[in-house]
Amino acid sequence: MTWNITRYDAVGSTQDEAIALAQDGAPDGTVVVAKEMTGGKGTHGRTWHAPEGGWYASMVLRDIPDPRFVTLALGNAIADVLEVAGAEPRLKWVNDVFVDGKKIAGILVDSEITGDSVDFLVAGIGINLNGHAADYPSELQGGAVTLEDVLGVGMCIEDDEPFILESIAGWLQKVRDGRNDEILAHWRARDFLKGRTVSVADVQGTAEGIDDAGHLLIDGTPVTAGTVVLDD
Ligand code: BTN
Repeated sequence: MTWNITRYDAVGSTQDEAIALAQDGAPDGTVVVAKEMTGGKGTHGRTWHAPEGGWYASMVLRDIPDPRFVTLALGNAIADVLEVAGAEPRLKWVNDVFVDGKKIAGILVDSEITGDSVDFLVAGIGINLNGHAADYPSELQGGAVTLEDVLGVGMCIEDDEPFILESIAGWLQKVRDGRNDEILAHWRARDFLKGRTVSVADVQGTAEGIDDAGHLLIDGTPVTAGTVVLDD
């Protein structure tokens, strides 16, 4: 796919910018990239700490046949990039990428829906690349990590961005092609939660992986949404 990139040195949230562009009719492949964000958005109304050194991008996606697989596919895309860089990423259902038991990247997929049809998706990705999590706000201490923390060296984000976008395009193509089995297989091979004791809202038990619809299975019960808390 062809990316049409709008760049900011600093912006409130690339997600807000991309949603506004999509509402104005921006085509599939429109991307907003920022070097830093002052009002980064996470899932469930949380904030996303986005200092310079990370990669923050929101992309407009149209005509996606099965949006359920976008978050899983993007997890694979980020994991592939981190693996090539030399890290060992794991995917925590449904939108988190972990390395060494700490969060290194997050995915936020927003959608605008009319009736039964999806007008567009905006997929936001934040990856902690350069810098050190030790410099992050105290509430993130212990739970976040950067690629530089893991590898001991920083990277040139401008040079690596084309590779990240290529990985994303490749995995989104699998979503468009309906290659759900491939998406699920790669995701399952990187599952951070499988076998662990977890809870989501009032469901508690052992995480047993994801079903063919991408839902988390806790003791056989499919969970469709929510934040997973580790209990072990
Ligand atoms: C999460 O793990 O809670 C999701 C984090 C998503 C962060 C990305 S960074 C690019 C895009 N713009 C935002 O404001 N948020 C997403």
